[in-house]
Amino acid sequence: MSIKQKFDLTGKVAIVTGSSKGIGLSIARGLAENGAKVVISSRNQDAVDTIAAEFKAAGLEAIGIACHIGHGEQREALVAKTLEAYGRIDILVNNAAINPYYGPIEASGEEVFDKIMNVNVKAPWLLSNLVQPHMKANENGSIINISSVEGVHPGFRLGLYSITKSALIMLTKNQAKEWGKYGIRSNVVCPGLIKTKFSEALWSNEKLVGMYNQTVPLKRMAEPDEMAGLVMLLASDAGSYMTGGVYAADGGYLISG
Ligand SMILES: NC(=O)c1ccc[n+]([C@@H]2O[C@H](COP(=O)([O-])OP(=O)(O)OC[C@H]3O[C@@H](n4cnc5c(N)ncnc54)[C@H](OP(=O)(O)O)[C@@H]3O)[C@@H](O)[C@H]2O)c1
Repeated sequence: MSIKQKFDLTGKVAIVTGSSKGIGLSIARGLAENGAKVVISSRNQDAVDTIAAEFKAAGLEAIGIACHIGHGEQREALVAKTLEAYGRIDILVNNAAINPYYGPIEASGEEVFDKIMNVNVKAPWLLSNLVQPHMKANENGSIINISSVEGVHPGFRLGLYSITKSALIMLTKNQAKEWGKYGIRSNVVCPGLIKTKFSEALWSNEKLVGMYNQTVPLKRMAEPDEMAGLVMLLASDAGSYMTGGVYAADGGYLISG
């Protein structure tokens, strides 16, 4: 098989959580352009329908299924509706996450901790568990968890978020270790600063962005579509021997300073 064929995702079905915009949208588009049938998902049905319609108009295969990943019955419906529409699940990208708090760790309330852990850690764990039997039955599957450089290196006033992204890295390693024997691979991607709605509070702060640009070897933040290439490798047969890996796409942030 040529390397080009190895990247081809024809016949594969992918779920990408939080794919109505930002990094998730660029990953979903990449997967669809490489041939996968893609489930666009976020909390808002109209938003995911709009993106799925745009994909279809561009000749790509996609459907929109709303799912707040923090809610168990919605996670179950996401998996059931995907199977109903496409009959299988080959790729799961746990991308959706929240950061409701910016500040020192000692000043946050317990309810914020519970909320961020629920969405950023518990939801990817439980959604992966729902998908696992279907990948196991196919003796093949790729889970890609979207963490952050914050999961490896503590930043400034992002402590709680950092803790969740670190837990996601360890979830990935345990998925890889326990599920490798079923043909399921799990890897984690750690983006640096990417220009999306999620990070607007950071990149709209001129002083902060100036400091980031000065420190990071590539001297700039990234656009969301710069995350998709790495995910294509991890999702496809081109990455068939890759599991349990922690991969940064961060302009060199983690080696700077
Ligand atoms: N941007 C960065 O600089 C950066 C850096 C490192 C890591 N990351 C990580 O990259 C991932 C994507 O972030 P992004 O920057 O692309 O964010 P974004 O542009 O704000 O997009 C977030 C997506 O997630 C959806 N979403 C939010 N809460 C959800 C929930 N509870 N259930 C389901 N979907 C939900 C949003 O749609 P709805 O609002 O319609 O639900 C949207 O589609 C996150 O895991 C984030 O931690 C981002």
